[in-house]
Amino acid sequence: MAFTPRVFSGIQPSGTLHLGNYLGAIKRFVPLQQQYPCLYCVVDMHAITVWQEPDALRHATREVAAAYVAAGVDPKAHIVYNQSRVIQHAELAWIFNCVARMGWMSRMTQWKDKTAGKNAEAESLGLFAYPSLMAADILLYKATHVPVGEDQKQHLELTRDIAQKFNNDFGPSIREQGLDPEFFPLTEPVIAGPATRVMSLRDGSKKMSKSDPSDQSRILLTDEPDAIAKKIKRATTDPEALPSEVEGLKGRPEADNLVGIYAALSDTTKDDVLKQFGGQGWGAFKPALADLAVAKLEPIASEMRRLMADPASIDAFMADGAERASEIAEATMKDVRRIVGFVR
Ligand code: TYM
Repeated sequence: MAFTPRVFSGIQPSGTLHLGNYLGAIKRFVPLQQQYPCLYCVVDMHAITVWQEPDALRHATREVAAAYVAAGVDPKAHIVYNQSRVIQHAELAWIFNCVARMGWMSRMTQWKDKTAGKNAEAESLGLFAYPSLMAADILLYKATHVPVGEDQKQHLELTRDIAQKFNNDFGPSIREQGLDPEFFPLTEPVIAGPATRVMSLRDGSKKMSKSDPSDQSRILLTDEPDAIAKKIKRATTDPEALPSEVEGLKGRPEADNLVGIYAALSDTTKDDVLKQFGGQGWGAFKPALADLAVAKLEPIASEMRRLMADPASIDAFMADGAERASEIAEATMKDVRRIVGFVR
């Protein structure tokens, strides 16, 4: 069966949003609204897999929702909500915990990275099971397209494995219920564009991330123009001038990263950027990148500030989104409960 196209994506309200979240995810959410019905979720249940202060969680949840809207997501035409309001996410995640295998989870590189050199025994059980909640987020809505950054690719492959195993294991029951044997879709990751893996401004071999101890490694969506410009001017680079073609970025991770950021912010390609700046030094490129970043990010930051000044209005559109999301989620769960054999 062909599934009705639907987009789902989510961001954790843990810490502050950075340029990687914006270019790898939020910015790419916006044009998809023209083509498909979209659900954009603030995944607060994912966030608590590591400790979050309750007040900080509330603030960050509203801030991620505000960022979606400030960047151009329309919460009326589409659905914006926080995960914990739609309890079916937890219900389906439990069922997927019983479909997925321990071995699948322990092979997740994010789990391995987070626990490398640390005492895995002390991590929460939720952190280990996290990818199965993510599969539930997506499959609850039978989403066909999931725009994410490169770092989520393996989790999306696991989502397909879970969907496939559920469809197989429960095949006879699915048919008995008169449902299409391909009950869950095999979701496509949408990972495209020049900035699906934005790197740290201090070290071109490390991903830009919320958890990097250096503030200088990332640009925050809420940074003042001054801070943005300073961080870009101080970004680590090599001594060479920019090449004229993309080939020339090979083996130059810092240069590749800054050119990718420029291309993504200006909606062009690395090729176009190098056509313009090839042969020029950092003294010319960095100020141009700083101006571009400020011009693109400042309007979003100021709209976020405006929205955050009225948290009740954010809560209202999230409640409305959750209500509409619940209808889709409950329709899926009605079938899932019967398929699994739960008596109602
Ligand atoms: P999270 O909250 O870590 O990141 C949110 C989004 O930002 C992208 N991203 C990046 N993109 C490019 N360069 C970077 N340096 C960078 N850092 C982060 C991420 O790829 C992601 O798209 N597990 C997810 C949240 C999630 C989810 C889902 C996503 C939960 N359920 C269902 C999609 C569908 C996460 O932790 O993302």
